[in-house]
Amino acid sequence: MAARPALTRALPHLTSTVLSRSSQYQTSLRSISSLSPLSRTFSTTLPSLDANASTSTSSKPPTPDYAIPDPSRPTHFGFQTVTESEKREKVARVFTSVAEAYDRMNDLMSFGWHRVWKDHFVRTLNPGFSPLTAGPDPRGPQQILDIAGGTGDIAFRMLHTAHVVNRNPDVRVIMSDINRAMLTVGKHRSESLPASQQAALSFLEANAEDLTKARPLVPYPPADPASEEKPFFDPTTATTSIPDNSIDLYTVAFGIRNFSNIPAALREAYRVLKPGGVFACLEFSKADKHPLFNAVYKEWSFRAIPLIGQLVAADRDSYQYLVESIERFPSQEEFRDMILDAGFVIAGEGYEDLTGGVAAIHKGMKPRT
Ligand SMILES: C[S@@+](CC[C@H](N)C(=O)[O-])C[C@H]1O[C@@H](n2cnc3c(N)ncnc32)[C@H](O)[C@@H]1O
Repeated sequence: MAARPALTRALPHLTSTVLSRSSQYQTSLRSISSLSPLSRTFSTTLPSLDANASTSTSSKPPTPDYAIPDPSRPTHFGFQTVTESEKREKVARVFTSVAEAYDRMNDLMSFGWHRVWKDHFVRTLNPGFSPLTAGPDPRGPQQILDIAGGTGDIAFRMLHTAHVVNRNPDVRVIMSDINRAMLTVGKHRSESLPASQQAALSFLEANAEDLTKARPLVPYPPADPASEEKPFFDPTTATTSIPDNSIDLYTVAFGIRNFSNIPAALREAYRVLKPGGVFACLEFSKADKHPLFNAVYKEWSFRAIPLIGQLVAADRDSYQYLVESIERFPSQEEFRDMILDAGFVIAGEGYEDLTGGVAAIHKGMKPRT
């Protein structure tokens, strides 16, 4: 099974029982997805699955123990082995440190390619237009959740496509992140959006691995410089949560490889999505189908990116982590299998390579009941 190397590497405590249960479940989902009439790229405009598919996938997938966050379980932070809670703290420090320089650095490191990938990601999702909504108008209300939303690149594109391109003002976006510093930069950037788009946007502090605890953004840094507030979300301060079956479209761009427990985040994505709702992930991936290109890309990543980080943002370590985290992230096929394990159904291969696999888009749909 293709998922095994990734899961075993990422989650050393997997038991053989869990693997065999997951394997049986995955086999049944694979056969369901092969029944699907869908073409490779699909969107919020998904046709419903055929009768076989919906009846056989209506039950909730079992939650394996590796998908329940455990602060002391080993995981990786770049090339280091750390516990899940240590990773959360270290990742929080990385993004607090890079928040102000984040947008500039993205352009420099990717030669602007991240914009092309993000534009394409949002275009394939076509927010604001869904012929499946009840009633004759395909421009029905839609609730989008942008997880690990950072400084807003995906949320803002979603709003523009929905409100301007598809002329659908009934689309709302929740931009969520564990890091208050990143979200605060995003909030400031959002002030240049048209008023109607600002009104349709909200900011939520939350850990993607447990969306039952969340809080509207309290900007960071705090007004009082002597305050000891942390720059990342503290679940003990939660005042709200994201309910089950409440989201039409869940997006996560360049965020998921930073999570301490990816299966837990996939489980939460499944929980909050409505049946028929779409999980969509844009993430760095593997370019190893093209060995020569891959060699040049690796050379660039490991030599140039930490150096640019040092010169432009005075922060070599954060950018060293960035390239290591890309290297550690599962292959396209391994990640696709993790999405299947979480209970989603996929169309075709379940992913689309961008720029030779430097990045990839993965999509899954929560089965209709
Ligand atoms: C590389 S940035 C991506 C930001 C944005 N989506 C984009 O594409 O520009 C990764 C983001 O993931 C967030 N993140 C990391 N771990 C998280 C978690 N467990 N829950 C929610 N967000 C998390 C970080 O705080 C950071 O803002």
